[in-house]
Amino acid sequence: MTGSAPGGSRTHWSRVMSDRDREITFHYGETEITTRAGARLLDAILAAGIEHRHICGGHGFCTSCRIEVVEGQEYLSPVSATERERLGREAGRLRQACQTYVTGPADVKVPAPAPSRFGPDGD
Ligand code: FES
Repeated sequence: MTGSAPGGSRTHWSRVMSDRDREITFHYGETEITTRAGARLLDAILAAGIEHRHICGGHGFCTSCRIEVVEGQEYLSPVSATERERLGREAGRLRQACQTYVTGPADVKVPAPAPSRFGPDGD
């Protein structure tokens, strides 16, 4: 692929969304997932048979679906206002899988649990 990095550009994102029938592959940890360009990340992960947490059912409220972007931020939809509100300063490095759409070979993983004052497992 040539040209400037598309990340964050709404004009670019509109163009990408018009190319929805294109098949793309991204990585979820060690697992390679093939889906359609413009698919919602959570839907693609669940369709691949992975039991990814999504406590609020994918409505953007809980952040249990958050993933960490390892590479390829430019292949994900721009960070939404919901993500900025819910994830704060971590928005961008972390994304809510239910609020994020994928267009290319991004590489994401489940983030390590945040330290908790309630116990070592973070729950
Ligand atoms: S599933 Fe609750 S915020 Fe994504």
